[in-house]
Amino acid sequence: MHCTRKVTDDLIWVGADDRRLFCFEGVYGVPDGVSYNSYLLLDEKTVLFDTVDKAVYSVFLENVAYALGGRKLDYLVVHHMEPDHAATQELILARYPEAKIVCNQKIQTMMKNYLGVDYSDRTILVKEGDSLSTGRHNLSFVMAPMVHWPEVMMSYDTTDKILFTADAFGTFGALNGRLFNDETDFFAEDIDEARRYYTNIVGKYGPQVQNVLKKAAKLDIALVCPLHGYVWRSHFGDFLEKYLLWSSYTPEEKSVLLAYASVYGHTENAANILACRLQERGVRVRMYDTSVTPASYIVSDAFRCSHLVFAATTYNAGVFVTMEQLLHDLAAHNVQNRKVAIIENGSWAPTSGKVMRDILAPLKNIEFLDGQITLKSALAEEQLAQLDALADAIAADINPAPALVESLVEPAVFSPEAVDNKVFSKMSYGVEVLTTRVDGKDYGCIINTACQVASGDPKKLTISVIKKNNTCDMVARARKFNISILTEDAPYSLFQHFGFQSGRDVDKFADVPYEDRMGNGIRYIPTYTNAVLSCEVIDVRDLETQVLYIANVVEAKVLSKAPSCTYGYYHAHIKPKKNPAPEQKECWVCRVCGYVYEGTEMPDDFVCPLCKHGKEDFDHIVPEVKPKQKGYVCKICGHFEPCEGELPADYTCPLCKHPREDFEPAEQ
Ligand code: FEO
Repeated sequence: MHCTRKVTDDLIWVGADDRRLFCFEGVYGVPDGVSYNSYLLLDEKTVLFDTVDKAVYSVFLENVAYALGGRKLDYLVVHHMEPDHAATQELILARYPEAKIVCNQKIQTMMKNYLGVDYSDRTILVKEGDSLSTGRHNLSFVMAPMVHWPEVMMSYDTTDKILFTADAFGTFGALNGRLFNDETDFFAEDIDEARRYYTNIVGKYGPQVQNVLKKAAKLDIALVCPLHGYVWRSHFGDFLEKYLLWSSYTPEEKSVLLAYASVYGHTENAANILACRLQERGVRVRMYDTSVTPASYIVSDAFRCSHLVFAATTYNAGVFVTMEQLLHDLAAHNVQNRKVAIIENGSWAPTSGKVMRDILAPLKNIEFLDGQITLKSALAEEQLAQLDALADAIAADINPAPALVESLVEPAVFSPEAVDNKVFSKMSYGVEVLTTRVDGKDYGCIINTACQVASGDPKKLTISVIKKNNTCDMVARARKFNISILTEDAPYSLFQHFGFQSGRDVDKFADVPYEDRMGNGIRYIPTYTNAVLSCEVIDVRDLETQVLYIANVVEAKVLSKAPSCTYGYYHAHIKPKKNPAPEQKECWVCRVCGYVYEGTEMPDDFVCPLCKHGKEDFDHIVPEVKPKQKGYVCKICGHFEPCEGELPADYTCPLCKHPREDFEPAEQ
């Protein structure tokens, strides 16, 4: 039975999914299947854009017949001759004998070679910039050699602004009923397979892809229709950004791909120790055993990570076979612009390091880090320092101290008096509960520093946390955290609970009645909050009193429609106002009934109006005049610190741990 979907009113997807394919192109495992896309345009003339793999020919033929609805097929536009899109051309051309083939010269030659039939008399040859009117629509042709084969071309429908991109912008994975990119959470669920598809299928041809991207940049594009994967009708720019990175061999992230080949586990042991040392230094590691993980996944992450570490044992006076295959695969895919570290192992004549370097050295902009490590069978105790040094070198390269360019103007002389600290409570930013989890224990504190700093996927935000806060240390260890955004109805007690006591002294979650956790296992605050975000730390900066964490948002959900509490709202409406202590006045207080007679002198014949006792039963109260005490009050929690002069530079609030900058002069 036919199985189609509408792309637009007159464009129908007539392709099919294949979930039984074990290896795409005989090399790449596709555990989630793959789709072969074909599209039928129903204009005054009918146009079929490409065909499908022979594995799905049956439903494809039904789809085309159903979508045509009894009309004849006028044109078969061929963008690419690889058999996953061309194997059923003959069936279509036989069923629709009036159909003309629209293709370029190279495609015509390949058709003859593949099919053994000369279709010249049915072919309209096109070249760059040629166009074909089909009635309402006008197709313009764009040559795209080596994306992925030399004959590839694309079509641009200038009427509805649809770009048919052949293999470009495809992905592994069956569609499973979802045709459009916005019918899936693409950058969460599909981007890894899209990367694996691009890097392994087209990765070698970065410059050619860049050429096509330049052509595409001049087009007004509403829809992108690739031959595999989703039709893009929104957020295409986000996917394009990935293509710009991949095709220019620019790392997507500052992280380490650590691939090892180990026969008896000793090389693996060294790789594991290095991974621990890197993670401790805040470096993200993606780690693979080359004997277990198919190369296509490792190639994909080599395009993703900035630093590549290869650890392998010597084998047959060379390098272990699975590592050798991987490195040749990386070289074949033109991996460039990477920093590389090598760990070799060899019980009597280690040679794997040299072989690995020799395979990678010819690649463009490959920089080998100093300090190649040589194991003699197993890692020796004294070699731990070498792994530390390698981890230090990689971490310093990935997270260098920020370098400031020399200023062209004289820097201002800092004067605390010139900065009115009240300004900072007028800036509009939110208030949040930061939570994390380490060794099975939950931690949390109040912050007012969460800020989205990048909107591309994955979205990024920053938080800064006071160094002396226990939660700051715990985030550094966990490298992940949740942010619960507080609402205007949040009670002051919640701020006191998470803000004015330390996790070093109390378990802030001991008596919390709820235990809601996000997918990362970290708790969040489900009440008095309107949203929660889960984040993974990708970078860290030392801000002297605070630590700035830069993080990817990996999960986020809205909890309510209540308005967010801003820092200004907290100060204006939630934080209790300080009530000045009532001034004590001189008076006389009746010892019998407590009646108060205000005044300095009491007449001798005065009688208590309540209990009728005389002056002799009254105590004369003269308030002690205490000199006002100078000090500073914490603007965050209200703590008063008596102090005659300046607070020490390293002073922090004993209650909420905020620094000296959050105090203002006060008397009480
Ligand atoms: Fe999907 Fe290059 O074939």
